[in-house]
Order: sequence, then C-alpha cells, then structure tokens
Amino acid sequence: MQANEQRIEAHIENLRQFTATPGEGVTRLTYSVEDLKARNYIKEQMTAYGLTVSEDGFGNIFGKLNGMLEDAPSVLIGSHFDSVPNGGAYDGTAGVVVALEVAAMFQAQNLTPTYPLEVVAMIEEEGGRFQGGLMGSRAMLGVLSAEDFAAQTDVAGITTIEAMEAIGLNPLNAKPRPVETIKAFLELHIEQGPILEEKEISIGVVESIVGLCQLEVTIQGQAGHAGTTPMNRRKDALVAAAKIIAELPNIAVNESHHTVITTGRLQLYPNGANVIPEKVVFSVDIRSNEEVHVKNAVEQVKACILREHKNGISTNIAQLMYISPKELNHVIRDLFKQTSEKLAIPYCSMHSGAGHDAMVLSDFTASGMIFVPSKDGLSHCPEEYTKTEDFVKGTNILFEVTKQLTEAVEV
Ligand code: GLV
Ligand code: MN
Ligand code: MN
Repeated sequence: MQANEQRIEAHIENLRQFTATPGEGVTRLTYSVEDLKARNYIKEQMTAYGLTVSEDGFGNIFGKLNGMLEDAPSVLIGSHFDSVPNGGAYDGTAGVVVALEVAAMFQAQNLTPTYPLEVVAMIEEEGGRFQGGLMGSRAMLGVLSAEDFAAQTDVAGITTIEAMEAIGLNPLNAKPRPVETIKAFLELHIEQGPILEEKEISIGVVESIVGLCQLEVTIQGQAGHAGTTPMNRRKDALVAAAKIIAELPNIAVNESHHTVITTGRLQLYPNGANVIPEKVVFSVDIRSNEEVHVKNAVEQVKACILREHKNGISTNIAQLMYISPKELNHVIRDLFKQTSEKLAIPYCSMHSGAGHDAMVLSDFTASGMIFVPSKDGLSHCPEEYTKTEDFVKGTNILFEVTKQLTEAVEV
C-alpha cells in the first residue's frame, strides 16, 4: 500500500494557512489562535481516520487506534506542530501530517494492530513562545515538572496556564504520562540541511542527535542621555553584549568537532535611539556532537560573559535547557534500513544537528527518526520545502515500520 500524495499535500497546505504572519512564512506559537486552528484541524483529521482524540494537561494532542491487547503500551508516531517565528510549513508539521497519513493507511486496510498506535502532535518544540524548547515532550515525560511548566512565561509575562486557558485548554490534568504506556516513538522530520539533496537520496536514517544547551543572558547597565553622557562615564549594556556576542564564533571554531554557537534572539531596553541601553537580554544556543565539547563550550561562553561583569555592568546567566547528545535505538534504525531496502528506496545514515522531541523520548522509550530532503538545505525560514514524492517514500517506510512495531517486534 502506498501513501496518498494528495492527502499529504492537502494537509501541509491547509496547516500552512494557520500562521500569524500570512505571506511571511509560518508563525505558529504555542497556545496562540493559530495553534488553536491547527489543533482543531489535526483533531478533526484524527477523528476522520478513526482515532480517539485526547489532549494531555500540557496541550499535546493524541489520536489513538486501539490494539488487540488491552492496557498495552502504544507505538507513538508524530512530531511537533508549533513553528519558529516566520518559519516554514514543514518543520515538525510534516511529521504530524505523515503520521496522520499512516493512520489513514491503517484505516484504508482495516488494520487492527496488536499494540495500540497513537499519532502525537506536540507543543512548543521550538521554544518560540516560552523559551527552552522541547517543552511538549519534556512535560509529557516529567523531565519538566508540572510546577516548572506552570512557572514559564512568555515575553509579555503571560504564563503557560493563562495561555492555555485563553484558547480553552484545560491545564488541570498537567501530569506526566506513565512511561509504561509507550512502547516506541517514531518521528519523520525534514532534514533542515543540504546532505540528502546533495546526495540525491530521499531518506536519512538518523543515528544520533546533537547535544545542546540554551542560555539566556542578561546584561544590566545604566540608561542615560545619548548626547550628554561622556563616553568614559557610560555603562552601556549593548556594548558589553556586543563584545560577548562577537566572541562566540571564535569559541565555537576553537572548540571544533562541529561545535556551533548562535545568538538568535536579543531584546534591548529601553530601545530608544537617543538612550544609552540599560539592559540587554539575549539567547545563546550551543551545540556539539559530543557531550564533552558541549560542556567545554558552555564553560567558555560563561567565562566570556563574566569577563564583561565589571565597571558598573552586571551579568546574569540562566540555563534554559541542557540536553546531552543522543544515540537512537539500534533495532529501530535497523528496521528503517531493512524496510528502505525492501521498498527499494535508497537511504543513508545521518547525524542530526537540529534538536528533536525524539531526543527527549529516547531516554524513556525506543525511539527512531528518519529525515527527508530539504530544498537547498533551508529550514527555519519561509523558503522551507520538501517534495511530496519524498514524503510519500518516507511515509511508506514509516507505515511498514509502524506496522511491525505495533505487531510484535521487541525493541
Ligand atoms: C529545533 O529546530 C532546534 O534544533 O532548535
Ligand atoms: Mn522540528
Ligand atoms: Mn525547528
């Protein structure tokens, strides 16, 4: 049985419309109006494909197809449905869409699995609203406690709980899902890099995922008049921040081993053309393939920030997230490879430089991922694009592996 090209395309195009920035890419922040519209759409599709819909106390969505075994753990398939600001229509969303398509294929064949199958659509993987990232999976598995979840606020000071209630979600049941209820997790994702396209291969079987640390740095200085304050009497928070940010690429290059460091978010206060900046808050995202290099780079970044803590400038560092590099499950990797061979779809093994919910799930359950090509290697931008034919191939593989895991294969 083949995945249905039109259905996949229609879901991607329909979900693309749920954006706060029409014409300028997909901006779908967690618990926004666009989240609510996408959520309703996903729930409708789940119901149409014969799944029983539920939402946990964090707003993650599940669509369940019961198996023959009662009280048996489920095979979860899916991804996240939030986006970065002005992102594309595929990052995360495509993984939810192809999981829906797998459910449609089960329905079309009238398959009743032995173990239950659950399609999952997770919130806030990007950290676009509440910072930190991987929040849906971390909360689902108790890595982020319900108390810490409730304490998160967005830039406007709105708490997760207030934001959930604003779109009619019920935060009362905010507790982790027992890990015994999950047999395995499978995620298809766009590659977000150039390798598959360059190699002209449609499928990447992910062996490992990068380790990452996210910091939020606050530099506090003193506001003052831009015309009357002599240069030697200034406590300019932005000048201090700029020195730090300019040093970050050198730290990454010196650490080598694919270490990368990015400042992608920066807020400046009070943000007036004729006012010396009083406060700057910025993110630092640090990644590397091996834990020792993530940790070294984090230490060096912290030391670099501390060097600016002088002459009336104070610095503060909050660690929003740390997650070590992960290796994905061997059995699932082999299943993906064998299935690709059986379906005559060439594949290659890959390492992921992007973070994914699968890295959180992999600490609790057998987890596996496949990648499909990204045009020009672009992602986190409106130009993101993947050919439908690649999704069809990926979905065909995902369907076969899901079928095997919901039967008996032990992982
Ligand atoms: C998610 O896209 C991440 O890698 O931060
Ligand atoms: Mn993603
Ligand atoms: Mn992303």
